[in-house]
Amino acid sequence: MAYKLTINGAARSADVEGDTPLLWVLRDTLGLTGTKYGCGAGVCGACTVHIDGQVVRSCVMPVSAVGKGKVRTIEALSPDRSHALQQAWIAEQVPQCGYCQSGMLMAAAALLKSTPRPSDAQIAAAMTNLCRCGTYPRVRRAIRRAAGMPLEEAV
Ligand code: FES
Ligand code: FES
Repeated sequence: MAYKLTINGAARSADVEGDTPLLWVLRDTLGLTGTKYGCGAGVCGACTVHIDGQVVRSCVMPVSAVGKGKVRTIEALSPDRSHALQQAWIAEQVPQCGYCQSGMLMAAAALLKSTPRPSDAQIAAAMTNLCRCGTYPRVRRAIRRAAGMPLEEAV
C-alpha cells in the first residue's frame, strides 16, 4: 500500500507494508540515512525523529501509525549546521564515534522547544538516549550552551 507522508515539509510516498517501521521507510525507501538503527526495540534512541514536534523512536513506529503527522528528521534540523544545538555540539566536540548523535540532537531539539532553559534534572529526564561512547557530560554541556546557560549548573 502506498502511504502518503509529510517528511521534512515535503510530501513523500512509500509503497510498503503497514507494519514497516518508519525508520525503514526513512532509510531504505526515502534514502534519509541520517536517522540511525541501533537496537530496533525502542530502547537506544538512535532512531529518534520528531512527529508533530514530539520525540518518536522510529524503529517501533509502524508507518501505518504516522497518519497525517509531520515527520522531521535530522536532515531538516538546519540546512547548514546553523541550529544552535549543532553549533553547540561542534563547540563542545560532543561526538566520538557519532553513531548515536543524530538521535541525541533530535531529542535535545525537542527538549529545548518545550523547555528553553532546562535544569540538569530536566536534561537527564529528557535525554534517555544511549551512547556507548559515554558522551553524556558533553551532551549536557552542549544543551546548556545552546540554551545560553552557564555550562555547569550552580550548586
Ligand atoms: S534503534 Fe530505535 S530505539 Fe534503538
Ligand atoms: S558517540 Fe559513539 S555511541 Fe554515542
